Amino acid sequence: MDNLIGLVNRIQRVCTALGDYGGEGAVQSLWEALPTVVVVGGQSSGKSSVLESIVGRDFLPRGSGIVTRRPLVLQLHKTDDKVEYAEFLHLPKKKFTDFGAVRREISDETDRITGRTRQISPVPIHLSVYSSNVVNLTLIDLPGLTKIAVEGQSDSIVGDIENMVRSYIEKPNSIILAVSPANQDIATSDAIKIAREVDPQGERTFGVLTKLDLMDKGTNALDVLEGRAYRLQHPWVGVVNRSQQDINKNVDMIAARRRERDYFAQSPDYGHLTSRMGSEYLGKLLSKQLEAVIKARIPGILAMINKSIDEIETELNQIGRPLANDAGAQLYTVLELCRAFDRIFKEHLDGSRPGGEK
Ligand code: GDP
Ligand code: NA
Ligand code: MG
Repeated sequence: MDNLIGLVNRIQRVCTALGDYGGEGAVQSLWEALPTVVVVGGQSSGKSSVLESIVGRDFLPRGSGIVTRRPLVLQLHKTDDKVEYAEFLHLPKKKFTDFGAVRREISDETDRITGRTRQISPVPIHLSVYSSNVVNLTLIDLPGLTKIAVEGQSDSIVGDIENMVRSYIEKPNSIILAVSPANQDIATSDAIKIAREVDPQGERTFGVLTKLDLMDKGTNALDVLEGRAYRLQHPWVGVVNRSQQDINKNVDMIAARRRERDYFAQSPDYGHLTSRMGSEYLGKLLSKQLEAVIKARIPGILAMINKSIDEIETELNQIGRPLANDAGAQLYTVLELCRAFDRIFKEHLDGSRPGGEK
């Protein structure tokens, strides 16, 4: 199964690389059919922090105010390699092993489109992380939902962000990671409000409660975490990310994770929930869900892939072989990956069916 998710990841990656060339048609519809995890929530609710914890690396700009101003499509690729590295689609020849440099590049690349303003842009930044410590996942970080435009923003920004978020989460194959801070009333959660619009039954929404450590003394979030305040099909996951002070003091990821684990283990309120709380657990949960979605949608994805194979072959025939340009070569890659997906999945089916042929 890991194979299959890895393969979906690779197809997604080549599809995005083809963005400029094959932005329409087969490649685009293939990309839309493949499942992704989309992170939504109010500004400064902790979305970027949650993503970083899932990856287990410091590489995202975080902080108060509007920091994430373009969508970030983050693909995690599990490798056997000891060296972890990252690659941007807009810098295809450059391998980043310094994750601080990744963060600076995300900031710079954001500013390249929006200027050093508080404006947002719907043009995504594509980043791949290759590591032995990640699970195969595609995650999308988005600008936070807001209620009013602040100095330097156009009046339409509130609606613009909402529409951008909606365009990602309305795809039935997307898994919604709805991030809400525990120190605000769940009834006012922007994340839950927009997730409910597109997923009223809560079938593909995962509620994540951040900032448990910042709740008023004497209160706790058991009503939310145990599903009494707002029920979703999937259980809520509570997390404790680094505070702004931790970020300023450069508290590293390993220390932060250890502290998060200790927080739950020692908590008089949440001790009984320890095994299903925290960022590490969330990462595993999402990977499992992605696997389930891919399995459930396999017939649809396969049909799409086979349709794409046909369309891409037609397209290639029209271009005429052999191909000199990069786009043609990449189309071949999509084709190869689609065929591999088709083959691996059918083998998987045969293997798991009792009495199935080899
Ligand atoms: P985003 O705007 O939703 O992406 O939120 P960020 O991840 O940038 O976080 C906003 C601020 O909240 C940062 O200063 C984080 O350090 C802080 N923060 C996020 N999660 C937590 C948490 O669980 N506990 C504490 N104490 N601070 C958090
Ligand atoms: Na923020
Ligand atoms: Mg952010």
